[in-house]
Amino acid sequence: MDSLPTSMMAWKKTRAEKGGFELVETPLPDCGEGEVLVKTHSTSICGTDIHIWKWDHWAAENVPIGTTTGHETCGTVVALGKDVNTHKIGDKIAVECHLACWNCDRCDEGNAHICENGEIFGVHSNGAFAPYFSIPAINARHLPENLPIELASIQDPLGNAIHTLTGGPVKDSTVAIHGLGPIGLFAVNAAKAMGAAKIIAIDWDNEARMKLAKKLGADLVLGKDDNIVETILAHTNGRGVDNSCEFSGAPSALSNTIHSTRMGGYVNVLSVYGSETTQVPMNDIVFRYLHLKGINGRKMWSTWDKMHELLSGGKIDIETLLTHRMPYQEFNSAVELAISGDCGKVVLDF
Ligand SMILES: NC(=O)c1ccc[n+]([C@@H]2O[C@H](COP(=O)([O-])OP(=O)(O)OC[C@H]3O[C@@H](n4cnc5c(N)ncnc54)[C@H](O)[C@@H]3O)[C@@H](O)[C@H]2O)c1
Ligand SMILES: [Zn+2]
Ligand SMILES: [Zn+2]
Repeated sequence: MDSLPTSMMAWKKTRAEKGGFELVETPLPDCGEGEVLVKTHSTSICGTDIHIWKWDHWAAENVPIGTTTGHETCGTVVALGKDVNTHKIGDKIAVECHLACWNCDRCDEGNAHICENGEIFGVHSNGAFAPYFSIPAINARHLPENLPIELASIQDPLGNAIHTLTGGPVKDSTVAIHGLGPIGLFAVNAAKAMGAAKIIAIDWDNEARMKLAKKLGADLVLGKDDNIVETILAHTNGRGVDNSCEFSGAPSALSNTIHSTRMGGYVNVLSVYGSETTQVPMNDIVFRYLHLKGINGRKMWSTWDKMHELLSGGKIDIETLLTHRMPYQEFNSAVELAISGDCGKVVLDF
């Protein structure tokens, strides 16, 4: 611990307003029993960070003022808490941000990502828009072979994409990805890596992201000028795709997924909608015998295992998707860039 500083400059949400972040001198986090202390390498900007930055209703309900946010992160272990024997100093890790109790019915049944006593690192408690963070050792996941630390923070959104995709068939199947934000783009690339027979990617009007989708493996890219449902049916022998994934958060896209998925097919929804009462064409789900599934986080640990298999095999093109890197002092510009949508993934280096 000798060489560690005693304090650091951390980004904290200090004011209940749009923006409202300050770079504040703060002590290094404690490294408690079962935890590791990590020197942050990089932390990426997530849609959740945008909600917190804008301070919408959800953020005001969930994030205590004074929190150091940031959860898509990776770094090097620099200290071990009491009883940690799974890690050693110098280990390179990335974070699973769902902190579980490992002791409730949901955790026992293998659904720790929806733990009844769960919290999100960097949302409900301090996270990683800071040069150091501490986290339970089990949430500090060792990097797979061949994944450089520079690219490792993106495993959180890549894992979201893989969890969503694997809610239905992928290999040799037709897949539609609605919404080409960073997570939708990761899903396009992961579907390609997992051997999908045909990948149809749909955005509204973000031309740059639509181009990225083509580069990342989409066979067909559609936008607001296309009749989405008719075109998908036309490219799937009139049946619809086997597996539709919704990443846009637009109710119209959710409706499109339901009308362009084959009878008995799968609709997997990661999106969060502006209104909790988004209309769903329920009878179409019933008569088309669709499997409609909400997706949250990443399965601990089967999503991580699948992701590491793909990453170790060099099958995910992170460089194309990670369009911007900035020093962490430029946090506000990074968030504004992410809000503009003129980017893939934006990463802050520490
Ligand atoms: N459930 C979870 O655990 C979880 C975790 C992370 C993110 N999310 C949610 O997943 C979604 C995807 O995240 P992201 O950061 O990639 O999103 P994003 O907001 O960056 O991207 C959304 C994309 O959808 C496009 N879009 C808008 N309207 C559309 C329409 N009608 N049809 C098709 N595309 C349309 C936009 O142009 C944009 O490119 C968000 O809703 C986010 O809140 C959920
Ligand atoms: Zn996130
Ligand atoms: Zn639990």
